[in-house]
Amino acid sequence: MKTVLVSGCNGFIGQNLVKKLTNEFKVIGIDNLVSSSRANLVNLNKLKNFNFIEQDIIYLEQIDDKIDYIFNLACPASPPKYQSKPIFTLETNFIGTHNLLKLAKKNNAILIQASTSEVYGDPEVHPQVETYKGNVNTIGKRSCYDEGKRVAETLCYEYRKNYNIKAKIVRIFNTYGPGMDSKDGRVISNFMVNTINKTPLVIYGDGSQTRSFCFIDDMVEALIQCMHIDFDFPINLGNENEISLNELVDIFNKTFGINKTKYIESVEDDPKIRKPDISRAKKILNWEPRTNIKDGLEQTYNYFKKTI
Ligand SMILES: NC(=O)c1ccc[n+]([C@@H]2O[C@H](COP(=O)([O-])OP(=O)(O)OC[C@H]3O[C@@H](n4cnc5c(N)ncnc54)[C@H](O)[C@@H]3O)[C@@H](O)[C@H]2O)c1
Repeated sequence: MKTVLVSGCNGFIGQNLVKKLTNEFKVIGIDNLVSSSRANLVNLNKLKNFNFIEQDIIYLEQIDDKIDYIFNLACPASPPKYQSKPIFTLETNFIGTHNLLKLAKKNNAILIQASTSEVYGDPEVHPQVETYKGNVNTIGKRSCYDEGKRVAETLCYEYRKNYNIKAKIVRIFNTYGPGMDSKDGRVISNFMVNTINKTPLVIYGDGSQTRSFCFIDDMVEALIQCMHIDFDFPINLGNENEISLNELVDIFNKTFGINKTKYIESVEDDPKIRKPDISRAKKILNWEPRTNIKDGLEQTYNYFKKTI
């Protein structure tokens, strides 16, 4: 049985990915629990073929098992969380990613790097295609994450070029679903908490900003597909169905009943538009999302209802 190491295994995407991987692989999960709850571990530790190591990838210790694949998901993804630890976020992306690339080199393992749509910053090209180089602020509140993820991509590129390591970069766009943290701070989890607590849906800005939301099961399917197909350029993973936050409010109202809305000041460097061009993913990975937003939101709502 082949072994997969998943850093950030206890986070939102990590937990969902590990659950799927353990059907087929031995999985070693690494997490320092900086942006996820220890309570998640109860479910993970019940999985067969799963071993957990509580560790920070910045200070990665020796791993003796033979590793065949590495998913590098470790990094706080929610803006309030990474903004509260900016230097740590930079170190995770640079030193932590470098440590995992060294491990990949030692084991001749395949490494899949979870990059982000945030490498495009506040984009001037729409939809965002992988060849677009981005519009990122190096000295803003979001820079530790955006620039951290950009340098992590460069490390993967150099390891592939210099050491022939099969390091593959995927640029993940907004993903949602069961397993999200209710204190995540991003729009879907905020709206879920508002809906369940019957408090107004809070919108930063005028709600005209757009996002494209991908359901977690679709994202996990794409990530697993990346294990088996090699590619030497970044691939966008996300849903092409772009909606404004005002349209998202309408979907919430139609699906979960009418709620009030509250508009507050927009946040610094918040991207105004966000939509992936997923032509590469369709062609190379033979993948595209299948879950429509209403079904995905209902599954997410059922999860939040149980956990809040
Ligand atoms: N969720 C999304 O919509 C989204 C979008 C784009 C990119 N991504 C990327 O996908 C990955 C997973 O995202 P997520 O939503 O599951 O985030 P998350 O914050 O829920 O999970 C990240 C996990 O990594 C762990 N972690 C952070 N720094 C670490 C370190 N130095 N050492 C060990 N563990 C560490 C955290 O404790 C957490 O469990 C992240 O790298 C994120 O940047 C996610």
